[in-house]
Amino acid sequence: MRPGDVIQTKRDGGELSRAQIDAFVRAAARTEGSGWEPYHLTALLMAIYLNGMTAAETAYLTQAMADSGTRLDLSDISGPKVDKHSTGGVGDKTSLILGPLAAACGVLVPMMSGRGLGHSGGTLDKLEAIPGFNVNLSERQLRDALAKVGLGMMGQTKDVAPADKTLYALRDVTATVESIPLITASILSKKLSEGIGGLVMDVKTGRGAFMKTRARSRELAESIVRVGTANGLRTTAMITAMDAPLGRYVGNALEVIESIETLKGNGPPDLTELSVKLAARMVELAGIADAEAKVRAALTSGAGLDVFRKCIEQQGGDPKVIDEYSRLGVPTPSMVPVKAPRDGYVTDIDAEKVGVAVRDVGGGRSRAEDKIDHSVGIVIRAKPGEQVRAGDNVLEVWFRDDTKFAAAWPTIGAAVTFGDAPPSPEPLILEEIT
Ligand code: URA
Repeated sequence: MRPGDVIQTKRDGGELSRAQIDAFVRAAARTEGSGWEPYHLTALLMAIYLNGMTAAETAYLTQAMADSGTRLDLSDISGPKVDKHSTGGVGDKTSLILGPLAAACGVLVPMMSGRGLGHSGGTLDKLEAIPGFNVNLSERQLRDALAKVGLGMMGQTKDVAPADKTLYALRDVTATVESIPLITASILSKKLSEGIGGLVMDVKTGRGAFMKTRARSRELAESIVRVGTANGLRTTAMITAMDAPLGRYVGNALEVIESIETLKGNGPPDLTELSVKLAARMVELAGIADAEAKVRAALTSGAGLDVFRKCIEQQGGDPKVIDEYSRLGVPTPSMVPVKAPRDGYVTDIDAEKVGVAVRDVGGGRSRAEDKIDHSVGIVIRAKPGEQVRAGDNVLEVWFRDDTKFAAAWPTIGAAVTFGDAPPSPEPLILEEIT
């Protein structure tokens, strides 16, 4: 089967056959000898991005991607196994908080996460800001982590959904991320391979999300819940606001600090509340009663923080970071603030601009091979709705490389809007789809 013919089918708005999807996925898992080159894969990704896929194509693509590797079988480890996944946001470090909280409540959490994608951050990049933290767990190491800590936080092993690994990296740098079938298949191929029984999805909506409108976000949530459930995974989705960054810290090491502060009970209200609600859904899916009360107790007692400390230790990281943030390589040598030009209120902080700026000062990747500077980022001193006086720092940009900072500065400068009155508060959790 010629790759050009498959691309042409989708380019012209046709439906791909199972054989065509199989050929694409096989090639993504192993290009050598397939007759496909990376440019064929990206051309087909763009055709899918532009013309979409039917529900049947999406379901089949998901299965084919999951079957491109091995599926973990954790059925011999007793206990409910539940994971959470986000479609990607800015300042979204909830995984680092809710994983430990859910584990502290008795859920086994084999969490397989991704790296930054487009302007959004990734859990693996954040965890790697912790010196020594190993996200490349083997199946045996994951089993050990689940037995000892109840939580393992890792990237895809090379055997899990290898097709997604290739396609994820290509989408990241070819403007083909924001596609409902591609996101559905990418997320669920990994989740179906993880050996879990339940999945809580956080589908972000708004400027800083890949789905900018409520309608598109609902479509994505429904697609994930439909395909997940059809494949035997109890799946529930929350649609949550991502117009402004979540919490106050954006950037890998900074987000680790904010996660630890949240587990110590000092987190910002939006981040704390969302983490608690998502963790409570995980605990519910695990069949444990009084889920939300148990999660709140794990937060106040420090049981969640204790799990995070053990998780860091178990995965080779330096657990002293919990008490000594300087071990995370912060602060960076340079900081430039965005100041309030007058007395008034911050009315808006554009999450996408903040995400792009953090990426561009070195906190993310513009090309697949870029190295991340974990210590750079943006601290939000005044969130939307907060009052400021002329000259107050609203954002602080922490960076190392002057050239990168200069390139990012126009984006950063345009991210904040001021006004005379606070904006009306918007709910963070907008809808749930089960
Ligand atoms: N997270 C994933 O794992 N895949 C996507 O496509 C988007 C977010």
